Amino acid sequence: MSGGCGLCRGRRTARNRFQRLIEQRFRRKPRVVSIPLFDPKRAHAPLQKALEEAAVSVLRSGRYILGPEVEAFEQSLSDRLEGRPVVGVSSGTDALVLALRALEIGPGDEVLTTPYTFVATVDAILRVGATPRFVDIDPTTLMPTAEALTAATSAATRAVIIVHLFGAAFDCSELEELRSRGIAVLEDAAQAFGARLGDREVGTMGDVGAFSFFPTKNLGGYGDGGAVVLDSQERADYVRALRAHGRGARSYYSSHIGYNARLDAMQAALLRVKLAHVDAANSTRRDLAGNYHALIQADERLRELVVLTPDPESLPGHVFHQYVLRVKPGFRDVAVAHLKESKIGVGIYYPTGVHQQPLVKGHVDAELQFPETEAACLSTFAIPMFPGLTGKEQEEVIFRLCEAAEQYMRASGQG
Ligand SMILES: Cc1ncc(COP(=O)(O)O)c(C=O)c1O
Repeated sequence: MSGGCGLCRGRRTARNRFQRLIEQRFRRKPRVVSIPLFDPKRAHAPLQKALEEAAVSVLRSGRYILGPEVEAFEQSLSDRLEGRPVVGVSSGTDALVLALRALEIGPGDEVLTTPYTFVATVDAILRVGATPRFVDIDPTTLMPTAEALTAATSAATRAVIIVHLFGAAFDCSELEELRSRGIAVLEDAAQAFGARLGDREVGTMGDVGAFSFFPTKNLGGYGDGGAVVLDSQERADYVRALRAHGRGARSYYSSHIGYNARLDAMQAALLRVKLAHVDAANSTRRDLAGNYHALIQADERLRELVVLTPDPESLPGHVFHQYVLRVKPGFRDVAVAHLKESKIGVGIYYPTGVHQQPLVKGHVDAELQFPETEAACLSTFAIPMFPGLTGKEQEEVIFRLCEAAEQYMRASGQG
């Protein structure tokens, strides 16, 4: 019977077509094409004219740091994020530091977080003088569960940093019990601009949120940039003061030890152009993820070797900052080497858990082990993902992965 929904039929057709393509490709010598992990120029191409106009307008304005462009961008972000106050800052890392300062976290305070993240999450905790306490990840979501976070709290725990990893939306509503005990929830939403669960968008699910506008991010700028989303005007005013040397309304008069963490007008103007199109770009990323899922499922060897193939249908609200596969131990390095040889961009996020990196020495118990994080560090890798990536390129990426699977199975006597 050939029933089922249109989407399933579409997936089946794509799968059958790809199966035929793989068979043909294995019979002839493939040509070498180069496919980057991320291509900002292609991702920006449809907006080029508007971006150039915005850039020229800033050049002519004579105002390059903070000012009306930054205020307009902050207002646009705030309008989208439930009217919460937003403060534009110089990077995602600074956004995390200022968010922790807004929560008044400092020496003697413990902050729970994942060791399977970009180092900035933990760096920020150390920079405010607090102590990171790691909670191991769940092998399927690659993020700690709310249950594990809750179990790890101690009398010193003042906050939890949730990392919405690779574009996934962690369900912060599961942390309400912690919040009722006075433990703040800070969302590190650097990788997940626009991700949502139901009617809640990341950045508005906790007490405070931090975004990065690093060029590769879903809302990526043309240099460094970030934003802090606050739950009160009072906290927003404090962060505004901190980003500019702790200064308030009075000129050359600082009340706090602050930073030079200001957002520049050029980034704000360009990001405001991109903000209007970020949902469309995220939706393209979800389509690309769906294609990858179908292509991988079409190959018997990959079904055997790839243990986690993110499927947008079962990941509502995910915005696929990265498309990260988890494969059987041993296959990862073969796959990565073969993709690189075939001129296909790959990324290993992350090769080492933060708990094993020298910066935390003396701050965390060196004896503690995080086996799920360590296993993930050996078995995951990202394949090209960006708006502008074509279906043909995706087929090439997966075809090369099939070749790697064939090599691996032969070498391990399974082929
Ligand atoms: C999870 C996470 N947190 C924080 C950051 C820091 O952002 P930025 O590079 O803008 O400082 C990043 C950036 O890669 C990130 O991925």
